[in-house]
Amino acid sequence: MKFGYFDDPNKEYVITTPKTPLPWINYLGSSNFFSLISNTCGGYSFYKDAKLLRLTRYRYNNVPTDEGGRYYYIKDGDTVWNPGWQPVKTELDSYECRHGMGYSRYTSEKNGLEASLLAFVPVDENCEVNQLTFTNKSDKAKEFSVFSYIEFCLWNAMDDMTNFQRNLNIGEVEVVGSTIYHKTEYRERRNHFAVFSVNAPIDGFDTSRDEFLGAYRGVNDPQVVAEGKSHNSIASGWSPIASQQINVTLQPGESKSFIYVLGYCENLEDEKFVAPNVINKKPADELLAKFQTNEQVEASLAALKANWEDLLSKFTVHSDEEKLDRMVNIWNQYQCMVTFNMSRSASYYESGIGRGMGFRDSCQDLLGFVHLIPERARQRIIDIASTQFEDGSAYHQYQPLTKKGNADIGSGFNDDPLWLIAGTSAYIRETGDTSILEEMVPFDNDESKAVTLMEHLKRSFDYIVNHKGPHNLPLIGRADWNDCLNLNCFSEHPGESFQTFGPSEGPVAESVFIGGMFVMYGKEYADLCAYTGDQAEADRAMKEVAAMNDAVLDGGWDGDWFVRAYDAQSNPIGSKSCEEGQIYIEPQGFCVLAGIGVETGEAKKALDSVKEKLDTKYGIVLLQPPYTRYHVELGEISSYPPGYKENAGIFCHNNPWISCAETVIGRGNRAFEIYKKTCPAYIEDISEIHCTEPYVYSQMIAGKDAHFFGQAKNSWLTGTAAWTFVNVSQYILGVVPTLNGLSINPCIPSEMGTKFTMTRKYREGVYNITVENLNKVEKGVTKLIVDGKELTNTTVVPYEKGKAEYNVTVVMG
Ligand code: BGC
Ligand code: NOJ
Repeated sequence: MKFGYFDDPNKEYVITTPKTPLPWINYLGSSNFFSLISNTCGGYSFYKDAKLLRLTRYRYNNVPTDEGGRYYYIKDGDTVWNPGWQPVKTELDSYECRHGMGYSRYTSEKNGLEASLLAFVPVDENCEVNQLTFTNKSDKAKEFSVFSYIEFCLWNAMDDMTNFQRNLNIGEVEVVGSTIYHKTEYRERRNHFAVFSVNAPIDGFDTSRDEFLGAYRGVNDPQVVAEGKSHNSIASGWSPIASQQINVTLQPGESKSFIYVLGYCENLEDEKFVAPNVINKKPADELLAKFQTNEQVEASLAALKANWEDLLSKFTVHSDEEKLDRMVNIWNQYQCMVTFNMSRSASYYESGIGRGMGFRDSCQDLLGFVHLIPERARQRIIDIASTQFEDGSAYHQYQPLTKKGNADIGSGFNDDPLWLIAGTSAYIRETGDTSILEEMVPFDNDESKAVTLMEHLKRSFDYIVNHKGPHNLPLIGRADWNDCLNLNCFSEHPGESFQTFGPSEGPVAESVFIGGMFVMYGKEYADLCAYTGDQAEADRAMKEVAAMNDAVLDGGWDGDWFVRAYDAQSNPIGSKSCEEGQIYIEPQGFCVLAGIGVETGEAKKALDSVKEKLDTKYGIVLLQPPYTRYHVELGEISSYPPGYKENAGIFCHNNPWISCAETVIGRGNRAFEIYKKTCPAYIEDISEIHCTEPYVYSQMIAGKDAHFFGQAKNSWLTGTAAWTFVNVSQYILGVVPTLNGLSINPCIPSEMGTKFTMTRKYREGVYNITVENLNKVEKGVTKLIVDGKELTNTTVVPYEKGKAEYNVTVVMG
């Protein structure tokens, strides 16, 4: 069943009922100011950091679900309704929500009155704009009132929902004209305040939540709205809100718009006040002046759309596969931007107060983002590398506001160092900018310990070389990519964090997965060394890579698939000899991706085993058989009920690894089959089973051992976004940035037809690519024609400095 449809020309998903199985959300903002917004107008806003600078409140896992957002109550006679249906939930005569690139638009109608709400965060502005347009569609004049409502968060979202003995005393506001200023803690150590304003005279306001809602009432039935008259309340402590009342009269056919702005403003320390405890409102005045007229709003929306048109023009495909095209050209890249911005901090499943930026997560997010805005990727790489330690290990997370490593979680996740090589290599292959390798970058944010980024990569590489176990495989530490395989943890008491309990280093527990990663990214490290003239280091690196390749094939091969790891007693995990968890997805994907066993047949065997043992109709599960009891020697993985999360859920992040791996051995049909199984656009028709948004990936779909097989959770913030984009663009469509130029070597399914075209902006050039496949092969390039000239024995279009356009024909056969 579907709850909407894709509108590709407008790059929108159109939701046609507010009653989606779960809230279906969108993200507004792309640099500093962000909002989450659901299909019923729920969600919240923050500036830079969802934990430390939260503007509006949101109650996670609330009942009823998703209550709290930017709400407009329309009181038309005895009927009260909202354009987004929530929170009053009056049945609407019509409803539509369009989630687009950085904006959402809601159009609803009730009793002949249409309300259209446009919400977006303008490019490079610290505010959310809500343009609310009313149209009288009836044949009689209409008189009604509109009451706006947002609830302020007292900035630190963690404190806001826990430290009530303090924070119920500190709320403060100012009201001037149609503008409400939220200034909690401004009198002391904050130099920022929030503002909520409307561009029209108002008929009343409220800033006290309890006055507005009334005792024991909820946002679904505010007292003030029921009475039809604001109380003009001034909040003092308790819970500050912003609400404005506007009485509107509309003749038949007449329209009127109101522009509401929620903004974040800062003042210099010595310019905070114009009188004792009275805010200097200059920055707010300047911000609000930009959004006073419909023309200003339209121009700002047009700029936002143009920005996205430009970003999404960097990679496009036009093929017979409509759903593939829409994911590649629109939604997958959009999600890559969101994961780059948010890491794993704020979604409807991540509370914004838990994790900051993840070291491995952000490095992987880069892989799907770097072609969009390489300059931002560059800065991110430097920020991430600055949280590395001198021995090559790294803080597992850092806070976006301070950019400092998070000491609570510390280090010891032994895959982290290699992801830095992955991210940096992707950036250099995309841009050719090797100057980044010469940047001086600190260790642990200590500038006195700065070395070149290249030296950081060397430390990353050597961390693995210097931390090997009895099988000459990398030590796993606290965990590798699979945060739940905690082999040195041995946690026996509830509340101990699986990720930080126990020693971070164990003498023997090893990871075959990191072995695969080392072979893959060790080669990329060697390439970078050779490319920048250090052939001796490249040779040394390739020797280590060859040794690891052998170690994986010796100690890491189980006969029909790759072993997953060795535990603290050196017993294999993910082996036929195990009672449960005999085969895991991760090493099959990554070892083959790295090229291990491709020549000697292990790669094909491993992928065949994946198909036989792990595949399901909704995607490939992480392991089989699932753990049915808690294994203290394995940790969190066995804490999940069978079929959920890492315990045999369909982890969407590593399904693309298998798809990529299939292309490495040339099986385009199988690669595409895997791609389609978890791809949102391809499973839109089963939204009632899948439940999460049909335009973005979720982290996990419940596996075949779970009660709700096929149901997804944790949408939006997942490495799946970047990896599916890498898979589809680089491995299936085959467009790979290399150090020397763009390589085009597709591995495709029969349904791609005999011809498709792509455009790729790469460095200074635009590549217009036509792929011809008259013989319908799955892989293989017989001819590469660049601007009419045939190149032999290569898939790489050599990079020519400054050249603006390349016309490329790739003939498969
Ligand atoms: C989840 C993992 C996640 C980890 C982060 C675990 O509870 O299952 O998916 O990586 O938390 O700390
Ligand atoms: C989610 C985490 O954000 C990511 O870092 C981890 O690799 C996966 N879960 C798997 O555990």
